[in-house]
Amino acid sequence: MSGLDNISLDERARAILRANDRGGFTLPTEGLYPYQWNWDSAFAGWGFASFDLDRAWQELESLFSGQWPNGMVPHILFRSDDPGYFPGPTVWGTQGIGPIPSSGISQPPVAATAIRAIWQADKAAGDARLRALLPGIKAWHRWFMDWRRTPEGAIFVTHPWEAGRDNTADWDSAMAMIEPAGVGDYTRRDTAHVNAEMRPTKADYDRYIWLVNRGRNMGWDEAEMAKDRPFAVADPTMTFILLRANRDLSHMLAAHGMDTAEVDGWTMRLEAGCAALRHPELGFFDAVNLRTGAHTGHLTSASFLCWYAGLDDARMRAAVTEGLASSSYPLPSLAVDSPHFDGMRYWRGPTWAMVNMMIGLGLADMGLAAEAELLRTRTGEMIAQHGFAEYFHPQTGEPAGGGTFTWTAAVWLAWASPNAGDM
Ligand code: DGY
Repeated sequence: MSGLDNISLDERARAILRANDRGGFTLPTEGLYPYQWNWDSAFAGWGFASFDLDRAWQELESLFSGQWPNGMVPHILFRSDDPGYFPGPTVWGTQGIGPIPSSGISQPPVAATAIRAIWQADKAAGDARLRALLPGIKAWHRWFMDWRRTPEGAIFVTHPWEAGRDNTADWDSAMAMIEPAGVGDYTRRDTAHVNAEMRPTKADYDRYIWLVNRGRNMGWDEAEMAKDRPFAVADPTMTFILLRANRDLSHMLAAHGMDTAEVDGWTMRLEAGCAALRHPELGFFDAVNLRTGAHTGHLTSASFLCWYAGLDDARMRAAVTEGLASSSYPLPSLAVDSPHFDGMRYWRGPTWAMVNMMIGLGLADMGLAAEAELLRTRTGEMIAQHGFAEYFHPQTGEPAGGGTFTWTAAVWLAWASPNAGDM
C-alpha cells in the first residue's frame, strides 16, 4: 500500500464517481470519453451501490432510457455533442431510431448482473425499480439471441467496439479481411487525450470508422446488415457475460413470480454455444473468426470469464494457475508470452480492473476461493499503489489510458477495497 490508508482510498473512489457524475449518468472519464458508455454505467452503478443506492438505480435507469425499439441498448448515449470526441453522433447517424442520439452497436451486457447486486443491497425499497427494469433487460437479451447468436449458440460481435475490447488480438484476422476503401480523412481525438502508444493503431481506426460508415449507410437495420457481415467474430466476452447476465435475469424474474421459461431456454442455448469457443487443440476458450471458421488461438482475459458464466473447466483452471504465476499483477488482457503482447497498448496486454473483478467473482462463485482472493488483493494493491487509471501494465503496474476512471473507482468500492462488502 502507498501510505494512503484504505479509508482515504475509499473516499477518493467515491470522489471520482461524484466528479464523473453528470446528473443521473456517469462519464467513464472526463475528456477521453465524454458521454455515457454502456458497460461503464453498469460498473458505475455497482460502485454507487456501496454508498448511494438511489444514485446506483439512476445509473441503470438512465442507461435503459436509451434503449432502441428493437431492444438494443447502445454502447454510447450521446447526451450532448462534444467536439473532443470522435466519432460523435453525426458520424453514427442514428437520429430518429432510438430515444436519445446514440451509437448503433451494443456492448457487453453486464447490466443485469449489476442490477442484481444493487437490488440485493436494496431489496425493500428497490423492488419497484427493479420490476420497471426487468422488461427492458429481457428485451435486450432477446436482441442478442436474435441478432448476435451463431447457430451453435455463441454470441458474436459485428464491430470491435461491441465487445469493449477494441484492439484485442482476437480481431486481427477478421480486421485484416476488411479493405477500408473510401474511409476518407478524419481526425482522431483519443490521441489528443492520451499517448498514442496506449491506443489502437491507425490501421485499426480506419476499419472501426469504415464499419461505422457501413452501418450508418444501412440505417442500422439489423436484417439488412445480417445479409453480409464483413466483420463477425464469436467472442468469449459477449458469450460469457450474457450467459451470466441471463442467469441473473432468470433469478430476478423468478423472485418476482414471473415466468422464466424463455430466458432459461436462452441460457441452455448459450451453454451449448460455449463449447464452440473451445480451441480444438489448445483446449482453452478463445474467439472464432466467423468468416473463416478459424479459432484465433489467443488466451485473453475474456477466456477466464468462464467461471463468471457458471462453467468450471479443468483446462481453464490450469491456465489461470499459469497466468497467476506469470506475474504478480492481476490477469493481463493477453497472455504475456504471446508474440502480440504489448503491455501498454489497451487490450493487447494491459490489465483491467473490471475484467479481473468479473473473473474474481466467477472464481469465488465456483468455489475457487484462493484464486479469487489472490485476484482481489492483487487488484486492490495495484490500485492502491498506482491510482484509479483506466488500465495498467500487467508486469509493472504502470498506469495507462485515462486517469480518475469511473470503473476502476467502482471496482475498488464494490470488490477490491478491504472495506468492500460481500457481493
Ligand atoms: C473509444 O472511443 O475508444 C471507445 O472504446 C469506443 O467505444
